[in-house]
Amino acid sequence: MPEIWVEKILDEPELYILRIDDERIKYFEATWDIPEGITYNAYLMKTGDAVVLFDAWKKDYTEEFLETLRKLVDPKEITHIIIHHTEPDHSGAIPAVLEANGYRAQLIGTTFAKRFMEGFYGEKVVENFYTIKDGEERNIGGKTFRFITVPWLHWPDTMITYVVEDKLIFSCDAGGGYGIPEAIDDSDEEVVKRYLPHVTKYIVTVIGHYHKYIVQNIKKLKSLGIVEEARMILPGHGLIWRKNPMRIFEHYERVGAGIPEKDKILVIYDSMYGFVERRMEVVIDELRKHGKKPVVYRFTDKEAPAVSDILGEVPDSEAIIIGASTYEAEIHPRIRYTLYEILDKANYEKPVLIVGAFGWAGVAGKKIETLITRSKFDLVDVVESRGMPRSEDEEKLREGVRKLVAWAG
Ligand SMILES: Cc1cc2nc3c(=O)[nH]c(=O)nc-3n(C[C@H](O)[C@H](O)[C@H](O)COP(=O)(O)O)c2cc1C
Ligand SMILES: [Fe+2]
Ligand SMILES: [Fe+2]
Repeated sequence: MPEIWVEKILDEPELYILRIDDERIKYFEATWDIPEGITYNAYLMKTGDAVVLFDAWKKDYTEEFLETLRKLVDPKEITHIIIHHTEPDHSGAIPAVLEANGYRAQLIGTTFAKRFMEGFYGEKVVENFYTIKDGEERNIGGKTFRFITVPWLHWPDTMITYVVEDKLIFSCDAGGGYGIPEAIDDSDEEVVKRYLPHVTKYIVTVIGHYHKYIVQNIKKLKSLGIVEEARMILPGHGLIWRKNPMRIFEHYERVGAGIPEKDKILVIYDSMYGFVERRMEVVIDELRKHGKKPVVYRFTDKEAPAVSDILGEVPDSEAIIIGASTYEAEIHPRIRYTLYEILDKANYEKPVLIVGAFGWAGVAGKKIETLITRSKFDLVDVVESRGMPRSEDEEKLREGVRKLVAWAG
């Protein structure tokens, strides 16, 4: 049984978190390996004559959600359900909640959210749906609820809610992360430190394709003044931020902008029989001579790292080195897929050095060069040669690394 957390967050307004720890999941969105798991967080607020539910859980946990909800309230008493984002990891249990609620509650969300809810769950679910305008305020149970759209964090439907009097930001995917933290909030620094790398991996794999919108949307929230004054940020995944609410959005901004960690160089390669590997040993040796810290992921006949983990390493790297063998007149399949995902999800302005090995006609280096040239990444050099690296190849590799290091600064 997955662990469930129901905790009171505030007395006034009466606010609860309903969190389930999904450690059963293996591939988020049927793609991203997450052995660290994920949590789905919903919130319930009782204020004045209103009972407001903020999002829900994934459909697989509908029964558990209803059971947990019933510990806090009779579902029939829910007056409003705020839909920040319709991806089924949050909306999956909503149809059953409405059923238990007798369709009394009003759903609140963007025009997109209404359309997507209808698409996923049918007309009945959106019969009582109030569509908000960006920045609109509504008085609900004596509190001012301000709805702010944050398109592409994670979908076009996405918004956040700001409860003005209490300075609470309900942010759904924005501010979320993978992982199952051992606490509900950021009060323990050790918990936060362990959790933040999962946040980075989540940002890149889930919203990386739209990473410029991360920076844009956080700028928007900052210009409204609500980030600085927020007392709490309550996301749909992972930790609640109340000791230092700014920290999570600052982390999001850094990842969105690809701010590097000093000296970190990401090295990714495949090697079937060790020829690329011999080149990469030279590359890594030269990196270390320059005081750089290579973070190495390799695909061999013994290991295959998760592409989701590699993606999480891109934003804070100073530069990237890709080593690939030519495979049936193509880039080796593992690197091909990894590169495809990097260019889609983690397309940053960072220098790239390409290293290739081939048997009879080098193709991988040139193909990667074309892909990199068309991307935001900056091509530093391509060092590709046949079979065993000779001393002149080794010199070219070292020279390539020196150029990369000079570029990365
Ligand atoms: C299945 C397979 C397909 C290959 N296809 C090509 C190819 O199309 N062109 C080429 O020049 N070399 C090809 N090679 C040779 C490798 O690119 C070459 O041996 C390279 O040095 C491998 O480096 P590695 O052992 O580090 O993977 C192929 C090798 C294998 C095993
Ligand atoms: Fe999402
Ligand atoms: Fe989500």
